[in-house]
Amino acid sequence: MFFFRSNMFYLPQLETRHLLLRQIRVSDAPDVFAYSKDPEVARYVLWQAQTELKEAKDYCRAMVRQYRMDEPASWGIEDKSSGHLIGTIGYMDYDSSNRSTEIGYSLARWKWNQGLMTEALTEVIRYTFSEMDINRIEAQHETENPASGRVMEKCGMKKEGILRQRLYNKGRFVDVCLYSILRSEADALMKR
Ligand SMILES: CC(C)(COP(=O)(O)OP(=O)(O)OC[C@H]1O[C@@H](n2cnc3c(N)ncnc32)[C@H](O)[C@@H]1OP(=O)(O)O)[C@@H](O)C(=O)NCCC(=O)NCCS
Repeated sequence: MFFFRSNMFYLPQLETRHLLLRQIRVSDAPDVFAYSKDPEVARYVLWQAQTELKEAKDYCRAMVRQYRMDEPASWGIEDKSSGHLIGTIGYMDYDSSNRSTEIGYSLARWKWNQGLMTEALTEVIRYTFSEMDINRIEAQHETENPASGRVMEKCGMKKEGILRQRLYNKGRFVDVCLYSILRSEADALMKR
């Protein structure tokens, strides 16, 4: 059953074994700053490492605005064990004519390689197909960031190919690898 809602991009709280995916609040800014000031976290994403807390506050405010305007936005990823925000995952783009959306994510470096983004993305894919009228979810990563591709693969996304120098990021043109998962594939995975 889809939610044919006027507020299509309302982001409800979702829970997984280790994580709460919930709306970001302005009071999350210190947590966001703690991981977003790390150049390693920012290396393969389209934002620059933050240098002051104000940038994190501006980011959180922008998210709150996007929730209010019902625009594609991100969940904050809260670590259930500490109560701290350790990353974000959400919708980067939405193509209504083709009922497709793009997902992006980032996580604090001290939480890498513990299976957490795979846990978060699995839940967001499940939510998207079960509650929204979406047929295709895309995600892309720089070819030099294979850990992100591995997350996509582990969540059942299929590699479609390399888009050469698709993005200009931090002073260089970079190749990106495009992945997708279709509603029919996700349904088949859930039935297994
Ligand atoms: C990419 C990112 C989201 C991965 O999150 P994560 O929670 O560490 O991911 P998981 O632990 O669920 O899975 C990571 C997988 O990548 C693998 N991996 C890690 N480094 C790797 C590398 N250099 N090459 C290949 N695989 C790698 C891990 O071994 C693991 O796979 P496995 O379970 O088969 O062993 C995280 O590193 C991150 O936030 N990076 C900075 C922001 C970013 O790059 N976002 C994505 C932009 S497209």
